[in-house]
Amino acid sequence: MKIAIGSDHAGYLLKEKIKEFLISRSYQVIDFGTTSAESTDYPIFAREVALAVQRGEAQQGILICGTGIGMCITANKFKGVYAALCTDEYMARVSRQHNNANILCLGSRVLGEALAISIVDAWLNADFEGGRHERRVDLIKKMEEDMC
Ligand code: RB5
Repeated sequence: MKIAIGSDHAGYLLKEKIKEFLISRSYQVIDFGTTSAESTDYPIFAREVALAVQRGEAQQGILICGTGIGMCITANKFKGVYAALCTDEYMARVSRQHNNANILCLGSRVLGEALAISIVDAWLNADFEGGRHERRVDLIKKMEEDMC
């Protein structure tokens, strides 16, 4: 499975750690940057990861900034992208099971490395449950169609 990943300067170090974890678990990682801790702008990287997921070049995406908020706001502007900001494993698991989130957003200034990796692990190991949740996700998709 291919995972698109991106961060701004605040998320850079955590992105590198998460990338190592993903590779160790045999995921294919497409890294859209940033490539250093030099100050940059999170929407640039959120856009690249969101487009990769929207186009099906990656099945899922992970975005990291200081809080995860800016990444989440930006990614959710893209049709077909459902980004979830998660601060624990429960939110991560349920964002897949109930919301079918295809991008996970994390805050490097909110989470320690071990918790962040545990959240990624929980997210990747959970699947959409469908059923009543499908009806709700379909309502979101219908709104998306009506708005665009
Ligand atoms: C950068 O200082 C910070 O604003 C950014 O990483 C992020 O937290 C935005 O949502």
